[in-house]
Amino acid sequence: PRLTVIDTDPGIDDAIGILLALASRDFEIAGITTVAGNIGIETTTRNAGRLLAFAGREDIPVLQGASAPLSRPGPEPLNLHGRDGIGGVALPHPTQKPGSQDAVEWMEELLLAQPAGAVDVFALGPLTNIARLILEKPDAAKRIGRIIAMGGAVHEHGNVGPRSEFNLWADPEAASAVVASGLPLVLIPLDVTRRVRATREFIAALGASGKPLAAMVGSLIDSYFESAANRESRPLHDPCVMLYALAPELFRIETLRLSVDTGSVEGAGALTIDELGSPVDVALGVDGAAVLDLLARRLTQER
Ligand code: BDR
Ligand code: CA
Repeated sequence: PRLTVIDTDPGIDDAIGILLALASRDFEIAGITTVAGNIGIETTTRNAGRLLAFAGREDIPVLQGASAPLSRPGPEPLNLHGRDGIGGVALPHPTQKPGSQDAVEWMEELLLAQPAGAVDVFALGPLTNIARLILEKPDAAKRIGRIIAMGGAVHEHGNVGPRSEFNLWADPEAASAVVASGLPLVLIPLDVTRRVRATREFIAALGASGKPLAAMVGSLIDSYFESAANRESRPLHDPCVMLYALAPELFRIETLRLSVDTGSVEGAGALTIDELGSPVDVALGVDGAAVLDLLARRLTQER
């Protein structure tokens, strides 16, 4: 299994991704680092702990990270994920306290203790923690195996602005630092995640499996419908990171030179294909049905 850090702002779709990662033998989760995004930092940290308690994996540490973007005031939460950030689903209280170390210092220590290239990072929220690692701890950052990040909109319209996707918009300076870092990066934008859509039938099938993990993911998706304008189906953004790591052959990747707009509030976080930008592997196509099938299989199998 690949040693992996999940950097996240749970978040309903983050929660689904985390549960999928915990259910997959392919990953050894070294820790969960949290960032403010979908909701404030205290709540994203608490939600990470609740998910580990649910999965019976409180041996995995939770490390709290950035409470605000690198250099601008934090955005107001969009409240797409309910008041608790996680759709009000019944998750246990964590018995474990978050680690006392800052997320970025913890990542530095982990990366320096492991062989170069041995640790991957799954980035499911604003990129503040990863950018701080790159900017403040470059010797550790260059030991990352690869970063797989959900974020951005390439040929598609955004979800918070005409061309801006939430994770990049929430901290554009951080996103820009990560894209420009030259570290191995796979970006999973809305172009792909909008094509991985859960329907009511999908939820029903998870519930019918009789597996608590699958049923929990069903409830999470169900709660995600409540905030939605489109009540037919919901995109599963963050789980696409894990699904890409599990089955890259189900995605079409193109290497594009990208830069991130750090200017105006309106356009912040927008991606531009730009000759002077950094080469990034970007997922631009996906076999949505096959990916959903893989998700369902992973959630219903024994670990
Ligand atoms: C991203 O924004 C958040 O609301 C989701 O958790 C996901 O990471 C989608 O744009
Ligand atoms: Ca997220």
